[in-house]
Amino acid sequence: MIRTPLTRRFELGTPVIGAPMAGVSGGALAAAVSRAGGLGMVGVAGNHTAAFVAEQCAIPGRLPFGVGLMAWVLADRPDLLAATVAARPALVSVSFGDPGPYVGTLHDAGIAVAAQVNTVADVHRAVAADVDVLVAQGSEAGGHTGHRATLPLLQEVLTLTDRPVVAAGGIATGRGMAAVLAAGAAGVWVGTPLLACPEGLNSPAARARVRAAAGEDTVLTRAFDVAQRLAWPERWPGRALANEFSRTWHGREAELAHDDLASQRVVEARRSDDLEQAPLYAGESVGLVTEERSATDVVRMLTEDAERALRAVPDLLA
Ligand SMILES: Cc1cc2nc3c(=O)[nH]c(=O)nc-3n(C[C@H](O)[C@H](O)[C@H](O)COP(=O)(O)O)c2cc1C
Repeated sequence: MIRTPLTRRFELGTPVIGAPMAGVSGGALAAAVSRAGGLGMVGVAGNHTAAFVAEQCAIPGRLPFGVGLMAWVLADRPDLLAATVAARPALVSVSFGDPGPYVGTLHDAGIAVAAQVNTVADVHRAVAADVDVLVAQGSEAGGHTGHRATLPLLQEVLTLTDRPVVAAGGIATGRGMAAVLAAGAAGVWVGTPLLACPEGLNSPAARARVRAAAGEDTVLTRAFDVAQRLAWPERWPGRALANEFSRTWHGREAELAHDDLASQRVVEARRSDDLEQAPLYAGESVGLVTEERSATDVVRMLTEDAERALRAVPDLLA
């Protein structure tokens, strides 16, 4: 059994957090992660309603779960924070912006707070805001992310705080999990390894595409956000599988901002699940995701393989 400050604080069987992934991780995926002893999280974005939050958070029942919110969305959507507090999760992450304005409300409700950090300035801001868990999210991650790689970022964050630091971005095997635990992380925050799980809200076609994709097939781009006229702050592009749309528009965002036809195409493609035009967010570890497996099995296997890898470490010492 792997014990860390994270497992102790949240009474987990394994230090694995199922990353919040808007459009993929609803209550069923979160519950499947928690069933394996991890902590599954429901991802909430600006296109969601308070009713969606209540509905999805009811699914895990007595299992522990978390909710992932976006700071830049909350500024205009206090209803999402209120619905989250009402659902009584064990952990709420407030990422992509200043968590400061929201920590007090969550702490007053007895809810622990996490924040994904991508820079040293983010770490200082999260610590000043009294965040309980910091998530060093490297740019290998799927979805929106910063510009620094997981391992150097993790090592630097660990020098800046004594609070539990969880590693995110590119961790998809027990060996990878063992590596960041040995480096000092209190746990892992995995998203891409869960993209082919049947409990996800994503479509079977999207899951099939994830299973077929290679690790070299991703692109870090703002093109999908610009096309959809989303107010995503510029410093967080999104890592997605490259497709016809990104091959046409990545690097031409200024032009795209004025092309209403291209914009319409992406909005329509999201509705019709046209994966050559719509974004399919996935990280660099996508090449390791080759089978459709329950999230419970993914977390169990990750944990068993990490235990095996950690047990082998003493053999390295002369
Ligand atoms: C499809 C997808 C959607 C995501 N949506 C969110 C989100 O709603 N909120 C959030 O904080 N992070 C989101 N992320 C980022 C994840 O929380 C996490 O940082 C990332 O998946 C970890 O790296 P990995 O994909 O290499 O495992 C998303 C990631 C993916 C792949």
